Amino acid sequence: MSFTVPSQLEAELDELATHYPQKRSASLMFLHALQEQFGYISKEAVEWTARKLGLQPINVYELVTFYPMFRQQPLGKTHVKVCRTLSCALAGAADVRKHFCEKLGLDSHAHAPQTTPDGKFTVEFVECLAACGSAPVVLVNEDLVENATVRVADQIIAKGKQ
Ligand code: FES
Repeated sequence: MSFTVPSQLEAELDELATHYPQKRSASLMFLHALQEQFGYISKEAVEWTARKLGLQPINVYELVTFYPMFRQQPLGKTHVKVCRTLSCALAGAADVRKHFCEKLGLDSHAHAPQTTPDGKFTVEFVECLAACGSAPVVLVNEDLVENATVRVADQIIAKGKQ
């Protein structure tokens, strides 16, 4: 698989690395930038970062696997984040997420984000979305859905399948 970082982004990252006494300290910044560019951190992105910063790929890969904000798979077109923190948990967030998973053929017991084989949906649990007063809360791409129910989940699924 070919992996090409746009030349402007590469130049920006090269410049960024000069701001650190040790180049490896720029690893997280590189990974954030590559995830923003490509949507996730591929094996090729790990290897590219390692080459750029004079590291072994394992040094970069351990960051990708340690920090939950990094994704190793592309996101689905509709990204569903179900809050599981206390207010939402008490208001039925687990049932909403279970409904999403069951309707989309995903494992409702899995902990990691899951994407449907057609690439249309990614479903995951996340921590507080800062709208606790209207729990349970779901973030659908950039849209906050308050007081989510299984019926609302069905509407989100129907829209995402279009
Ligand atoms: S607990 Fe769910 S939004 Fe805060």
